[in-house]
Amino acid sequence: MSTRRFLEVEDLDHAELAGILAKGREWKADPSMVPTPLAREGVALLFEKPSARTRSSSEMAVVGLGGHPIYIRAEEVGLGVRESVEDIARTLGAYNVLLAARVFDHRTLETMSAVLDAQGVPVVNLLSDLAHPCQAVADLLTLQEHFGRLEGRRLVYVGDGNNVAASLAFAAALTGIEFTVSSPPGYELDAEVVARARNLGGSVDLVADPFDAVKGADAVYTDVWTSMGQETEGDIRRAAFAGYRVSEEMLGAADGDAVFLHCLPAHRGEECDAEVIDGPRSLVWQQAANRMDAARAIFALMVEHR
Ligand code: CP
Ligand code: NVA
Repeated sequence: MSTRRFLEVEDLDHAELAGILAKGREWKADPSMVPTPLAREGVALLFEKPSARTRSSSEMAVVGLGGHPIYIRAEEVGLGVRESVEDIARTLGAYNVLLAARVFDHRTLETMSAVLDAQGVPVVNLLSDLAHPCQAVADLLTLQEHFGRLEGRRLVYVGDGNNVAASLAFAAALTGIEFTVSSPPGYELDAEVVARARNLGGSVDLVADPFDAVKGADAVYTDVWTSMGQETEGDIRRAAFAGYRVSEEMLGAADGDAVFLHCLPAHRGEECDAEVIDGPRSLVWQQAANRMDAARAIFALMVEHR
C-alpha cells in the first residue's frame, strides 16, 4: 500500500471524508474515545508562514492522539537554503511518523511527499498557495454541526478564488454541497480546480455578481483579499475586490437563516464588516475551534495503517 498523503481534500474519497467527519464529531463529543495511535511518536510541523490557528490546533491534535509535536520554522532549518527540501524531509522522516507543513509553493509539499513515500511517512498540507484542506474539513464539521445533513446545502464563497476556495470546492464536491464562488474578474477560482471538482461530481458555479451569487445561500464564506505572500499586491487587490465585502446588506440577500463563515485571520472593513463577523449569524469561533477536531481525525487516518 502506498503512503498516505493529504495535500488537498481530493486525496480522500467520499467514505474517508465521511469517516473523518464522523470521528471529528464523535471525539469532540467524548474526548475519552480518542485513541492514541501516536503514542511515543513524533509529528513534525514545519511552517514557512505565520499561523495562529493551524499551529496550535495541529499541536493539540497530536497531543490528543498521544504523540509529540515538533514545531519547526522554515528559517530555523533553512528549508531550501541551508539544505534541500528533499534532505530536510528525509531527515525529519527519520524521527517523525508524520510531516505536516505550511508552505509558499505547493510543489514543496509534492517534493516532500515524493521523498517520504519510501519512508512510509504521510505528508499533510497545513496551507499552500493552492490549498488549505485541513481548514475545509473544519468548515464541513461546522456546517454539519449547524445544519445536520450537508447534502443539498448551498455554500457561497465571496472573494478571492484562492487556496481556501479551492479546498472548499473539493470538500463540497465530496459531500454533495452546492458550491458557488463569486469573485471579481481576474481573481476567479482556477478553471482546472473547477473541472476537477466537477469531475468528482461537484456542483460548482461561478457567479460574478456577489448579490446574485448569495441568493438562497445557507452559508456565506469569505477570506482575506490578500493572502500570505501576496502583500505587495495589497493596494491593487483592495481596489479590485471593493464590491465584494460581505456586508449586512449582502448577507441579507442570502437565505434568512444563512450563516457566515471565515477561516480567519479577518480584516474587518475589508472582506467583511464587523457587524457580520461579530454578529449573530457568524460561526467563525466555532469554525476556529473545529480546526483541532478536524486535525485530530485527519492525522489519525493518515497513520491508521502504520
Ligand atoms: N485559518 C488559519 O489557517 O489560520 P492561521 O493562518 O492562523 O493558522
Ligand atoms: N488565503 C489565506 C488563508 C489564511 C488562513 C492565506 O493564504 O493567507
